[in-house]
Amino acid sequence: MKNDYHHPVLVGEVINYLDLKQGDTIFEGTLGGAGHTIAIIKEIAPTGKLIGVDLCSQALSTAASRLKNYKDIIFLKEDNFANVKSILAGLDIEEVDGILYDLGLSSFQIDKSTKGFSYMRDEMLDMRFGCEGKTAHEVINRYSEEELREIFYKYGEEKWSGRIAANIVKERSREEIKSTSRLAGIIKDSVPPEHRYKRGHPAKRIFQAIRIEVNDELKNLEKGIEDGFDVLKKGGRMVIISYHSLEDRIVKNKFINFSGRCTCPPLLPVCRCGAKKRGRVVTRKIINPTQEEIMENPRARSAKLRAIEKL
Ligand SMILES: C[S@@+](CC[C@H](N)C(=O)[O-])C[C@H]1O[C@@H](n2cnc3c(N)ncnc32)[C@H](O)[C@@H]1O
Ligand SMILES: [Zn+2]
Repeated sequence: MKNDYHHPVLVGEVINYLDLKQGDTIFEGTLGGAGHTIAIIKEIAPTGKLIGVDLCSQALSTAASRLKNYKDIIFLKEDNFANVKSILAGLDIEEVDGILYDLGLSSFQIDKSTKGFSYMRDEMLDMRFGCEGKTAHEVINRYSEEELREIFYKYGEEKWSGRIAANIVKERSREEIKSTSRLAGIIKDSVPPEHRYKRGHPAKRIFQAIRIEVNDELKNLEKGIEDGFDVLKKGGRMVIISYHSLEDRIVKNKFINFSGRCTCPPLLPVCRCGAKKRGRVVTRKIINPTQEEIMENPRARSAKLRAIEKL
């Protein structure tokens, strides 16, 4: 089916690793344009259940209209997947057979939401997936220089973080920074010309860092994985698609931990992570899209899929 909201990634692999059966109950934490949902529903209908969640109201309305033929078996909610436990409790569902998180943002959000996710468009600085909480404007204009530097370094892995943070603070004291293009210009000018494009446009990494901070993405991911794994049935599967190394590191370490291996830092004298064998990683090697898929959908390029089964 043509999908101009978002082109879903690794659909066949998602279905395969979720190991779906008719009648399954599935929690999908990142509904987007329901690209994966439609493929999932075909496997679990007519008796299964799908609980679909997204922070973005446009995702919910697009998904609702695409899924209107399956009204009886879908439950859609504007919420954070980190709240998986309370969302399921609200529906009187104790356990699920499968969980899917397709992280990051949809093509709609990048291209059409006008929320300032892309450094290549001139938009206001918002970057929230939903409509609550702090905006990119607040982060850029209110955070201290040290806080900005730390975010850029931690979430953008940008070695020129200090210069970029210092320039933002200098520029905003002249006039509030309101637009993505002014911010992108400040970032670009902060990196010495000979280093500017060594790893792509520097604004790309800094915009990613701001987005992670605005949406508290890494904390939500950790909670979504931990709480999701708790409500997974024995034999149930959790499938996660991530798009950058910070996300993938969290997924990888949580899955290793669920498989019973200690993931504490090497110098810690005693184990604090409480690793206990509760799962089996079913993707022995990370799953990437094929060249064919990347040619058809370049945004699939950085996708990495991992799956675990609860024991
Ligand atoms: C890559 S898109 C998902 C696309 C979807 N799989 C499809 O086929 O159309 C990611 C979606 O997850 C949502 N999202 C990101 N973090 C979230 C969170 N913590 N809770 C709920 N939704 C989230 C975004 O708003 C976005 O719509
Ligand atoms: Zn440990």
